Amino acid sequence: MQIGEQLYAGKAKSVYATDNADILLMRFRDDTSAFDGEKKASLARKGAVNNQFNAYVMGQLEKAGVPTHFEGLHAANESLVKRMEMIPLECVVRNLAAGSLCRRLGIKEGTELTPPTYELFLKSDALHDPMINESHAATFAWATVAELGRMKELTFKVNDVLKQLFLDAGLLLVDYKLEFGRYRGDVVLGDEISPDGCRIWDARTREKLDKDRFRQDLGNVIEAYEEVARRLGVDLG
Ligand code: TMP
Ligand code: ASP
Repeated sequence: MQIGEQLYAGKAKSVYATDNADILLMRFRDDTSAFDGEKKASLARKGAVNNQFNAYVMGQLEKAGVPTHFEGLHAANESLVKRMEMIPLECVVRNLAAGSLCRRLGIKEGTELTPPTYELFLKSDALHDPMINESHAATFAWATVAELGRMKELTFKVNDVLKQLFLDAGLLLVDYKLEFGRYRGDVVLGDEISPDGCRIWDARTREKLDKDRFRQDLGNVIEAYEEVARRLGVDLG
């Protein structure tokens, strides 16, 4: 496979064209950011860990019937994905209260959320990823009502699969963020699933094993990501 020009560079990943018009290369960089890019660092091994973590999780989701853009690993920190038209929304499910939910609603961190909550955010660093609802998304044509329904359905299906997968590894899936795209008329899971975009706690001690270690200066960020990967049985090469 020939790798072509860089099409896009986000805060943690870069996307390249390939000689197949339907396939893109996604490079996971070591760059790490939080607070809409205000806090930044380069964390050795992160790109490779997240790439291999994502490959494993996307594979499990495909097996469970969730359509994903993932096509295959290309290198330790690179994967091949379907070229999609991305929907500029972030879909968040929360099983336990943490992060912005606690700040916004005054809920105590760790409170069990039954049923889990579902939230939509507009993907815009300039606007600080504001929370929106389905009415905004339809009015401003970020997604159709049918697409929004499918995104919600798939986001909860991911919860069914991953909550149990993580629990079996002694981990709590606290919350996570998904992004979707359009591919040949279908809504398909895109972006990545990794400890950058999820909250994951040790099931017994509730120790944080995700990007909150970076956000909150808790140290051992990548060591925690590797611990999660190891417990799930991800092959880190
Ligand atoms: P929040 O508590 O900050 O709203 O985040 C909820 C989940 O979504 C958490 O697992 C982190 C993830 N997330 C991202 O991956 N990227 C983002 O830009 C935001 C706002 C959240
Ligand atoms: N990913 C976002 C950023 O880099 C938000 C976050 O994860 O805190 O700013």
